[in-house]
Amino acid sequence: MVKLTGKNRIKTAVFISGAGSNLKNLIKFSKYNKSPIQIKCVISDNKYAKGLNYAKKFKIEKKIFKFDKENKNEKKILDFLKKNQVFLICLAGFMKILSKNFIKKFNGKILNIHPSLLPKYKGLNTHQRVIDNNEKFSGCTVHFVNSKLDSGKIILQKKVKVFKNDNSKLLAKRVLKKEHILYPEAIIKVFSNL
Ligand code: GRF
Repeated sequence: MVKLTGKNRIKTAVFISGAGSNLKNLIKFSKYNKSPIQIKCVISDNKYAKGLNYAKKFKIEKKIFKFDKENKNEKKILDFLKKNQVFLICLAGFMKILSKNFIKKFNGKILNIHPSLLPKYKGLNTHQRVIDNNEKFSGCTVHFVNSKLDSGKIILQKKVKVFKNDNSKLLAKRVLKKEHILYPEAIIKVFSNL
């Protein structure tokens, strides 16, 4: 087993689009002894993403890229990741779809967190759909990213109870709390066999 400490830690980029609570949580996790990752950079498609403040606060390099449909910036993004020697990408509330070519380049090295018990409720508006369908449980999933939306191999999941008087906001909040436990656990699981 390789000891992933200090400079040996896996160089990781976190991709965000919004609030960045998972980013903040991953930054905190990266500072623990048992963490196999170091966060080299934060990438966002949204220059107004609140989460970018965490990159600033923790002095992590951040970069905004336009993720357009024609993937015009893809080479620039790949070059930036290469320059930072990024090995692992963690998507954390990142709202753009990565191209097939991009995913191929990082094959098996892109993780995503999704706020449902996949394969149920892929895509957007998960919490409202869960409530509308009177589900008793929801939860969150960390999975590998492949070219189909929210469909890659599942790494770990956590369940959350749905209450009778729930609304999507309350449920989202409870799921998010579990996400913050799940993402680090999933990363440890992925790299525990090295
Ligand atoms: C999380 O619920 C994540 O699962 C989903 O978007 C939300 C992002 O939250 N993909 P945050 O930006 O990490 O706070």
